[in-house]
Amino acid sequence: MLRIEKDYSLLGHNTFGIDARTAAFVEYGSENELLEAAEMLRASRLPSPWLHIGGGSNLLFTKDWPGTVLHSCINGVEPLHEDGEQAVVRVGSGVVWDDFVAMCVERGWYGAENLSAIPGEIGAAAVQNIGAYGTEVKDLILRVETLNVGNGEIRVFEAAECGYGYRRSIFKQPDNKKYVVLSVTFRLGLRPHFNLGYKALADALAARSDISLRDVRDAVISVRSSKLPDPAVIGSAGSFFTNPVVSGARLQELQRQWPAVPFYELHDGEGSVKLSAGWLIEQCGWKGRSLGRAGVYGKQALVLVNLGGAEGAEVQALAEAVRSDVRSRFGVDLHPEVNIL
Ligand code: EPU
Repeated sequence: MLRIEKDYSLLGHNTFGIDARTAAFVEYGSENELLEAAEMLRASRLPSPWLHIGGGSNLLFTKDWPGTVLHSCINGVEPLHEDGEQAVVRVGSGVVWDDFVAMCVERGWYGAENLSAIPGEIGAAAVQNIGAYGTEVKDLILRVETLNVGNGEIRVFEAAECGYGYRRSIFKQPDNKKYVVLSVTFRLGLRPHFNLGYKALADALAARSDISLRDVRDAVISVRSSKLPDPAVIGSAGSFFTNPVVSGARLQELQRQWPAVPFYELHDGEGSVKLSAGWLIEQCGWKGRSLGRAGVYGKQALVLVNLGGAEGAEVQALAEAVRSDVRSRFGVDLHPEVNIL
């Protein structure tokens, strides 16, 4: 049955720990229930506009939501196919991402382990193209099954149709927000294969001769916890900004003044590079500093935190101050990765 709440606090639904309210909150557990909610929205029996959330780990509410917040509780992990090479599995959009990673590790399915401990749920993982330690979820996705809330039709997107890029997909475009994810089908490897290109991860495993999936998961969890706050303890949404992409020419200009500026080649044929937003923010002296009840995390400057009882607008004001300093010092514009509402 649909769960419908009126005038509902979203405190338990965003990892920043912001006490925003929504006029209506609707949780559904199946495709039919989402259809029912979509019909209620169309008939104005639920307030508009609607917003779909996942685990709320990439959201910043700066005000109350005047309409309906939708949340998927579609569960289930359904193996579709397994041979000597790969396992293909369909996962409900409401499944907690890290529960799925833990299951992959337990079953001996390779590919998701570098994405251990990323907060959030399956649906949002596919929308956001979550990534860490050299892996992006798009590398594992075969297809995304959606329901168009506008007309009630099912539409399946093959991975190639999803427009995946760095923290990007077509589902983030305003015109495509109508496609709500029902399930995601993943392809995992059955033969041992690890991606240990990220230095801190390789270092954490250097002493081991025989590495297992479990070892990689444990190492990722330990590297993450050394840099990133546990959202259950300190409110945050992970990286607040994306790492900015600049041209090779712009990099050279920056290098003249800051020879140590970290960068990663994008191999896009145009010489573009990705800069480290955390480094730029740290150079501006923001690491560990605060503004009101919002702060820049002391162990990773790309993470903004709620120091206790902060309103969304305070976090936003801090983000603006950081952004403006980075712009005036480096001439580089930072873009929020977090969805600011
Ligand atoms: N750095 C600093 N100071 C800082 C933070 C970073 O100088 O305070 C520099 C260092 O040179 C460091 C480099 O930035 O070597 C990269 O830092 P890190 O490896 O921590 O990664 P990141 O680029 O800051 C990205 C993702 C993270 C992901 C890590 C690891 C984005 C926006 N963030 O951060 O994802 O866990 O790489 O792969 O791409 C998230 O998206 O919420 C998230 C946490």
